[in-house]
Amino acid sequence: MKSILITGGAGFIGSHVVRLFVNKYPDTTIVNMDNLTYAGNLENLRDVVSQPNYRFVKADICDYAQVKKILSDFEVTGIIHLAAESHVDRSITDPFIFAHTNVIGTLTLLQAAKEQWARDRDGCLFYHVSTDEVYGSLEHGGFFVETTPYDPKSPYSASKAASDHFVRAFYNTYKLPALVSNCSNNYGPYQFPEKLIPLFINNIRCNKPLPVYGKGENVRDWLFVEDHARAIDVIFHHGRVGDTYNIGGFNEWKNIDLIRLMIRVTDRLLDRPEGASEKLITFVTDRAGHDLRYAIDSTKLKTELGWTPSLQFEEGLEKTVRWYLSNQAWLDSVTSGEYQRYYEQMYNR
Ligand code: NAD
Ligand code: TYD
Repeated sequence: MKSILITGGAGFIGSHVVRLFVNKYPDTTIVNMDNLTYAGNLENLRDVVSQPNYRFVKADICDYAQVKKILSDFEVTGIIHLAAESHVDRSITDPFIFAHTNVIGTLTLLQAAKEQWARDRDGCLFYHVSTDEVYGSLEHGGFFVETTPYDPKSPYSASKAASDHFVRAFYNTYKLPALVSNCSNNYGPYQFPEKLIPLFINNIRCNKPLPVYGKGENVRDWLFVEDHARAIDVIFHHGRVGDTYNIGGFNEWKNIDLIRLMIRVTDRLLDRPEGASEKLITFVTDRAGHDLRYAIDSTKLKTELGWTPSLQFEEGLEKTVRWYLSNQAWLDSVTSGEYQRYYEQMYNR
């Protein structure tokens, strides 16, 4: 049986990719490799664990010997690499873990794949999942395209940019079959509630303050996570080796407008008067070096591979709010322990 290794499969986007691949490709073994940091949660995959083509291995992408063994044991021919430290605020507090996981971890996987596929790399592919944040901040309009020069501004985006460069260096130097995609902000079920959308839905539900950075004027381009997973599937199977694909939904929202929409939807679903939770909006000190605007041009992906997003934002947001409100047990399990300490440190200073 053919094997695909998915790293970071217990995280937010990774769990959706694992679910899609396990269900869609029953004749392929899907190996989920994750070392279960605070962001990794096997509860995210409860519905796929009993599928015969699913395997989980707890392992660190920075551990060369372990990675090498997994690639060899499962005779892996495809790697979809999502494991990373992914939260900008955490990267501002502790940049070293970002360099370690995102740069050294990616390099470790690349080197192990190069060794594993040294004799025969026919049909093999290393797919690196990256972010639009590597392109920097759009202060003067326009969109990020695949050829926009890299200009990362946060420790997180700097570490992702470095990892992208290593992937392209391995393609160029060793002819490792590799490609990269850069996606805009994702939202949807199973996102760790340190990121804007799940954090605010949870705080609205609990009547807690909604900490809006600065004046709430920063702009993000939001994509439903299942649409990202579908794009990864299309690119993994049909993308051109060595290429880059931007993924986004042409769906830009100023933070404060998005927050007001989230409040209306959440209040309605909680049977509160619509807009009642606006009183929770609290403007707080801005994030250091806060990127003003991200916006992705995904025309290449649409014209070359036929991918388009399936959901309108209002529909996707309502689906997402409903999911968080009806999965309280999941929220409780991921917001106990370490999360409480993080929240105190981050928002009560
Ligand atoms: P996440 O933080 O929810 O999940 C990351 C996963 O990686 C977790 O399961 C964690 O346990 C695992 N992990 C971390 N360090 C590891 C290590 N050393 N070894 C093995 N596993 C490890 O992240 P996410 O939001 O799902 O993002 C996944 C990928 O997509 C990342 O590479 C991120 O840069 C990229 N991305 C995210 C977004 C977004 O909006 N969330 C947008 C574009 C790209
Ligand atoms: P986030 O979800 O952390 O994603 P990213 O920083 O990778 O885009 O944040 C999305 C936007 O929301 C970003 O402009 C920062 C802002 N934000 C807040 O205003 N308050 C918060 O508590 C958080 C977590 C984010």
